[in-house]
Formats: sequence, C-alpha cells, structure tokens
Amino acid sequence: MTQARRRTAVLRREAVIVTVPVALAALLAAAGPAAAGTIGTSGVGDPYFPLAGNGGYHVEHYGLTLDYDPASRHLDGKAVLTARATRKLTRFDLDFKGLKITGLKVGRTVAEYRRSGQELVVTPRHTLHKGQVFKVTVTYKGTPKPVTDPDGSLDGWIPTDDGAFVAGEPQGAMTWFPANNHPLDKSSYDFTLTVPKGRTAVANGVYLGSRTAHGETTFRWRQREPMAAYLATATVGKFKVERYTTADGVQVYNAVDPREAAAAAPVLKKLPSVLKWESRIFGPYPFRAAGSIVDRAPDVGYALETQTRPVYDSAPDLSTLVHESAHQWFGDSVSLTSWKDIWLNEGFATYAEWLYSEQHGGDSAQKSFDALYARPAADDLWAFPPGDPGSGANIFGTPVYARGAMALHELRTAVGDQVFYRILRSWATAHRGGHGTTAQFVRLAERESGQDLDSLFQTWLYSAGKPNTP
Ligand code: ARG
Ligand code: ZN
Repeated sequence: MTQARRRTAVLRREAVIVTVPVALAALLAAAGPAAAGTIGTSGVGDPYFPLAGNGGYHVEHYGLTLDYDPASRHLDGKAVLTARATRKLTRFDLDFKGLKITGLKVGRTVAEYRRSGQELVVTPRHTLHKGQVFKVTVTYKGTPKPVTDPDGSLDGWIPTDDGAFVAGEPQGAMTWFPANNHPLDKSSYDFTLTVPKGRTAVANGVYLGSRTAHGETTFRWRQREPMAAYLATATVGKFKVERYTTADGVQVYNAVDPREAAAAAPVLKKLPSVLKWESRIFGPYPFRAAGSIVDRAPDVGYALETQTRPVYDSAPDLSTLVHESAHQWFGDSVSLTSWKDIWLNEGFATYAEWLYSEQHGGDSAQKSFDALYARPAADDLWAFPPGDPGSGANIFGTPVYARGAMALHELRTAVGDQVFYRILRSWATAHRGGHGTTAQFVRLAERESGQDLDSLFQTWLYSAGKPNTP
C-alpha cells in the first residue's frame, strides 16, 4: 500500500484516429457472455476486477447532490444518472457498496432493486429499448466506508479529522455514489456539495460558486469533459482556497489544508509552469480546469490524479506534482480499457518525472534508468512484468511505475528523441477524451517509427524477470 509513497521516495530525486463512441461501443459489446440477453452484465469483463462496471448501458452524465457532516460522518446523497441503453434491457446493475438506499426510480417510476455485495441490481418497471436514454435516481444515506483494495490500501470515501479524503482508484467511487464503476465508461458530472460552514467541498472541473445559508455552505462544480468514475472526488476539509486563471485560460482552484500550506506553497506555485511544460511535450492540456487539493490524510499514503484536480494526502514534492499532472493526459484524458494496462498510466506519469528532471537541471532519464537497471535480479522491481501485473494486488507495484517508465525509455532509445516525442503526443491526441490499450500504443509506436518494436515491448512489458540487455 505504500507503493506510491515508496515510488516517490525511490524515484525522487496516432495516425488512425479511433473515434471514441465507436471504440467504446465495440469494447462494451465485447463485454461478457451474457451480452446477448436483455440482462445487463454485472461487470465489463475486467480480469482483475470482474464486478467493476456493468454491461448494457453507458452513463452519459452523473448529477450528484451530497450533504456531508464531518462530525457525525453522515452522508445524505442523491445521484441522478442519465444513461443510454446499449441493448434492450429488462434489468441492469450499478456498482454501489454500503450506504442505505432510501429511494430508486427509473424515469419517473419507482423501480425494484436488490443488493448483492457491490452489485445494485435494478429491474425497471418498463423494459428499456436499445438506444433509449433513461434517468436513474437513487437517494441514499449513511456513513460511507472506504474499500480495502487487493493490495491492502484504502480507497473511496476516507474520513479525515476535518472532513474526508475522496479518491476512488481503482474501486472506491462506489463507496459514495452508484456508478458504472470502470474506466471504460466515461461521463460528465455535476456536483452540488453541502458541508458545514467553514468547511470546503472540492470536486472536479470548473467551480461554479458557493452559497451559505443556515450554517451550511453548498459548493457547485461541473466536470464537462468525460471522466472515469474513479477520478471523481468530493474532498471535504478546512481548506485555504486560491483561484486564478492561467495565461492559457485554464481555471485553477487550489484547496490546501492550512497545516500543509507552508510546505505546499512553493510546489503549487509551479503548477502553471508544469502544465505548460507538459503541454509542450504531450499536446494541449485536455481540460478547462486545473488545480490541487492538498489534504492532511495520514491514513491514505498516496496521491491520486483526480481529474483536473489531483488530491494529495500531504504537501506534495515537485516530482509528485509533475506525476499527477502528467496523469491528466495519461490516465485521465486517455483512459484504460482494462486495469491490466495500468502501466499506460503509471509508467507514463513516472517517465514524465524523469523527463522533467532531465530538462530542469536534474538527473537525465538515462541516469534514472541506469540506477534502476543496476538493481539485482532479486529486487522487487523485477517481481513481475509491468504489462501483465497478474492481479489487482500488483497494479500499484514498483514494476508498473518504474519498469513501465524503463520500457518508455527503451522505446526512446530505439526510435530517437524526435520520433519518441511525436509518439507521446500522437498518443495523447489520438485518444484524447477516450481510451487506449497497450496493443494500440505498440501499433502507434511502430507506425510513427516505421520500426518493428515487438521484441522491445515483449522484453520490457511482458517478460518475467530482469531483462538481460538494457
Ligand atoms: N494513481 C495513483 C498515483 O498517482 C496511485 C493510486 C493508488 N491507489 C491505491 N488504492 N493504492 O500513482
Ligand atoms: Zn500515478
């Protein structure tokens, strides 16, 4: 669970444009054997998280209205999902864990439901036809509890001494709202968050304003660009807030726990220049909003690239800020289709740290590579190949981050800087707002370079043990 921490400690210091709806439809269509019936599947077919996400519909929009009281840890919630059936549906699932449901409607009609583990099984009164757009309204309440992931780490709604640290990778979104909880399904979001006066509730996207009445403040947020459920946040705390618009017109909102403010300030000051540097390398910043949430959440042990506005468990160092910012392109804008491909997120964000260091007077990427390559064959770094972590317990392991970055460095060495940077940028551009797979990345790299890169990727992404020749 301390992988992310350890990562920071150790490493500190496409020509064919796949249109998103087509790619998504094809991927969803391929999701599971029950795809032919009229019952939505209980998962999208992810090998590591078989119950994550659901088949049979796509959520276009989530409208989340939440009221949280940090003192009692009580949450009152209402989620209005606007969804589209991808086939005829007599029944479908949502992912939702814990909390008590007080009402559930499909359209204007009360629907039957039953709960089984994380599956919320909904039987609408009327059959939904293929292509039908429908609304699901769920009201709920209770004390949200985080999930414990296969690696022992916590995610979801994690209480803090003054609010809650809310981060859902890979599973925790379902601890605070009913969702199609897999990165394959991306949606726009509206948040209306009410907390006691004096607390701030920070979500993704553009800040729309706040109003205080009767001792409570309501904050409104809008995330227009498609977002995977795990990247949603509604972090609550006592925060110092700073707002400004960058020279490129990106609306920045920083929320910082005052106890972390002194340590965070010099790093957060660099956010505009980091985003600008990354835009030069990866292509235009994919969102209209940006920012940071710096919390004090000692139980968490990691930061998360929550879309537009990463959430940090304590004041980040610069390389962590660079890492979470790079995820805005790699992971957030370009999403996974399967958790197995996690190196497409973590290897890229780690390599961004190496590049940043190289171009800002620190170690070269080659030096970072060499330091890792020097580790003995028995080191954790070589415990499993990053392209095939084997299970959900390994997705945040050292090989995913470090050897994933090494794979990119090997690619760079093979194709040269000019082609390498073109590959990074084409990847971010061609799949912007959508999804990408490792196989698609390999094809893109081969196309851009004109080289056969199969054995390079085979060695660095898929072969067990320490590769023989760097
Ligand atoms: N993606 C995060 C990062 O920036 C790590 C998230 C870890 N999540 C967890 N449940 N352990 O590296
Ligand atoms: Zn990361």
